[in-house]
Amino acid sequence: MNISIIGAGYVGLVTGASLAELGHTVTVMDIDEERIARLDRGIIPIHEPGLNRFIEKNTGDGRLSFTTSTEQAVRDADVHFICVWTPPQEDGTADLSAVRAAARALGREFSAQNKKDQIIVTKSTVPVGTGKMIQKIIREEFKGDYAVVSNPEFLREGQAVADMMHPDRIVVGSNNQGAAEVVLSLYEKIKAPALVVDLETAEMIKYAANAFLATKISFINEVANVCERVGADVDMVAEGIGMDPRIGKHFLKAGIGYGGSCFPKDVRALRQFANHEGYDFKLLKSVIEVNEQQRATVVEKLLRHLDDVRDKDILVLGLAFKAHTDDVRESAAIDIIRRLQKLGARVRAYDPLALINAQRVLDENVTYVRHPHDGSEGADAIVIATEWPEFRDLDWKLIKSKTRTPVLVDGRNLLNAQEMKKHGFKYEGVGRK
Ligand code: NAD
Ligand code: UGA
Repeated sequence: MNISIIGAGYVGLVTGASLAELGHTVTVMDIDEERIARLDRGIIPIHEPGLNRFIEKNTGDGRLSFTTSTEQAVRDADVHFICVWTPPQEDGTADLSAVRAAARALGREFSAQNKKDQIIVTKSTVPVGTGKMIQKIIREEFKGDYAVVSNPEFLREGQAVADMMHPDRIVVGSNNQGAAEVVLSLYEKIKAPALVVDLETAEMIKYAANAFLATKISFINEVANVCERVGADVDMVAEGIGMDPRIGKHFLKAGIGYGGSCFPKDVRALRQFANHEGYDFKLLKSVIEVNEQQRATVVEKLLRHLDDVRDKDILVLGLAFKAHTDDVRESAAIDIIRRLQKLGARVRAYDPLALINAQRVLDENVTYVRHPHDGSEGADAIVIATEWPEFRDLDWKLIKSKTRTPVLVDGRNLLNAQEMKKHGFKYEGVGRK
């Protein structure tokens, strides 16, 4: 099938490359000229294992191409995926201006090219009712037949290609049965349970999924805070409750709160559109508050040992919002660094992948080190903010010997507490005895 993808970000690129890999002919369009020019030269703007290979192979085979022109993207395609961003506005409401612009541009091209039977698929995460809004915008521009389908995306950054090719489920929502079946058939080579629902239900499934996962994280973080006070171990508690299949073992890792471009945004957006309909989603208010509070606990733990962080040298290990990605959007690490700077601390930072992206969002007062060993020289404290597995293999004995004060706040429970204490660190984990 011939497909156009509007938006060449994480979701657009991974969807486009994967659909090409599945045998479709795909044109990916973005308004960002530099991004498209780089993609044309084979430069992939995001770090995603396996994406390079898919893009290289399918551009080479002529099944995948990039453009800044909607006209060109639409020309041979009959199915069009909207994968543009939906960032939060000040009050948490999703900003749908890019979705509206994409829908209008598609409608105009359908009209100009005298198209028939077009299918518009939303993969961007959009509040319930957006599908109907897209339908309306396109009708203002195009008088022919078309249908709108919601096909929410559940991929995780850092393993997006694997998630796309081996999803837990494929959700397709439309009020047009035929269009839903066409979209489902695009994935026929993928073995995954399919759920066909109406447009609104599909849109809601995406928010409910992200909000539930965020709730699990805030729940276990609160359990961790109680564990610290009563002398229990949260990792073991998580294991113990996770053995019950009704609870499940995933997303029970206590830490410094969830970050990333989606959980914080989507939890707030769901709250906002519920609110807009007159419903106060009280639970999500707490989920958000707990997440904020969890970031603050890192600073509290430092203050337990340092009295004051003013003019202290703090080494922060990890800047990405989680391991295996270079993405720092809404990263708890970035937030913690800003909190420390506000209190007058001097921050040194290291990340194996996210240094460049972090430099773009942090101020110039942060010192970036080439290796954690360098950063530990004369440090007053070390904070682990991202669970990069390689941090486990550092020479912690050497690091301890280089520090001025051996305070170690492990915000991800990455290290062996006993071992760190043996090395002489004043070790603080999350929800550990
Ligand atoms: P992104 O910021 O990586 O990419 C968005 C792209 O859209 C950018 O390249 C931007 O230039 C482009 N764009 C903006 N307006 C446009 C327009 N009018 N026409 C064409 N292109 C336009 O965003 P992302 O992370 O891919 O997220 C996209 C959507 O998918 C969001 O709604 C997000 O919530 C959802 N989502 C993201 C993930 C994820 O892990 N990143 C997972 C599932 C769902
Ligand atoms: C998340 C969802 O997992 C995807 O299904 C969804 O498609 C995506 O959001 C989206 O809508 O964009 P992602 O943001 O890539 O994916 O990252 P996750 O692996 O879910 O982690 C999110 C945050 O929660 C990270 O900061 C991570 O460190 C934190 N987390 C995760 C915990 O603190 N504890 C856990 O047990 C799991």
